[in-house]
Amino acid sequence: MEEKPEGRRPGERLLAIRVLAMPADTNPSGDVFGGWLMSQADIAGSIVAYEVARGRVATVAVNSFRFLRPVLVGDLVSCYAEIQRIGSTSISVGVEVFVERERIPDQVIRVAEASVTYVAIDELGNPRAVPGQPTRC
Ligand SMILES: CC(C)(COP(=O)(O)OP(=O)(O)OC[C@H]1O[C@@H](n2cnc3c(N)ncnc32)[C@H](O)[C@@H]1OP(=O)(O)O)[C@@H](O)C(=O)NCCC(=O)NCCS
Repeated sequence: MEEKPEGRRPGERLLAIRVLAMPADTNPSGDVFGGWLMSQADIAGSIVAYEVARGRVATVAVNSFRFLRPVLVGDLVSCYAEIQRIGSTSISVGVEVFVERERIPDQVIRVAEASVTYVAIDELGNPRAVPGQPTRC
């Protein structure tokens, strides 16, 4: 059974997203657009950040993003996310992206890795303390 979200701790990896790369996700050359993959990684990271923040978060920084291998139309894309650091109002999440490709059965290809920082925000969009974390003076 899945543990309670607030129990997730640094180093616990969550399969946050599984999605098929579709023809609509390509650039004019027919290659899957890097921005689409970044978007998936951002969504995956935000799911973990939302759990930790127990509410609304905003992406404040993409600390790093590395494209390791190309993604093809028809690839099954899986984004794994894990907490890297929890600050006063921020949560940094590491995301690893893998694909399964129909033409290469039983093979999982690591296609990207990223680190993204989110800030817990209140209803006005201002930073708020991450639950359980000491507030800044
Ligand atoms: C997110 C936002 C509310 C933060 O407000 P802010 O006044 O800049 O916040 P602060 O300077 O107090 O920083 C808040 C936290 O973010 C961290 N942070 C800020 N800039 C950062 C950066 N470039 N990299 C990593 N962390 C960063 C701070 O260290 C701080 O973390 P801590 O409280 O855990 O120590 C504000 O910048 C914002 O609304 N940005 C737009 C967000 C958005 O729309 N994202 C989607 C883009 S489409």
